[in-house]
Amino acid sequence: MFEAVLSSSMLGRAQEKDLVSYELIDLRQFGLGPRRQVDDTPYGGGDGMLLMIEPLVAAIEKAKENDPSAKVILPTPRGQTFKQSDANKLVNESGLIIVCPRYEGYDERLMQWVDLPYSIGNYVLTGGELPAMVITDSVVRLIPGVLGGQKSTEIESFQINDENIEFPQYTRPEEFRDIKVPSVLLSGNHAEIDTWRQQNSNKA
Ligand code: 6GU
Repeated sequence: MFEAVLSSSMLGRAQEKDLVSYELIDLRQFGLGPRRQVDDTPYGGGDGMLLMIEPLVAAIEKAKENDPSAKVILPTPRGQTFKQSDANKLVNESGLIIVCPRYEGYDERLMQWVDLPYSIGNYVLTGGELPAMVITDSVVRLIPGVLGGQKSTEIESFQINDENIEFPQYTRPEEFRDIKVPSVLLSGNHAEIDTWRQQNSNKA
């Protein structure tokens, strides 16, 4: 799942250009016993399995060998909602370790190794993989040199503040099935175009 995303498009090119380096660590490698167990049933009863603390901490400690000052991120629905302002801060870290919970959850003692718990929105997902990839994408694209034009990250959606959304854009043809491109955009009047774009930088 991660390899497909991390090797494609901008994220892949960022690594090829040595602007970032990804390392995937398989939790199973730190599993307990001959079956390399990583999960167990919850104390007190209840449905499902929890990731055990020992393999999780062993994996985090292994990742820290690469970069002892790396921040540990935990995707969890109980975290603060991840925002553009978080991505803007994280891009300045020397490294990030993203723990991906599976199953029903994790042993809560994990929180003592976590610097930053984040949710990516008010809905339930089956695991932390997609949130981890969302966070990775949003941070890596901010690394200088990853995107083509530097300007594109500055004027873009959310960059000015967490609520700001990009203005709508159009390309050829001028008219498609009776739907016309707003005429101001064809006017060549850049002051009017800027005003129109500011007025239309809102949620759909
Ligand atoms: Cl970070 N994890 C899971 N499992 N569900 C979520 C989430 C995270 N953020 C929103 N829903």
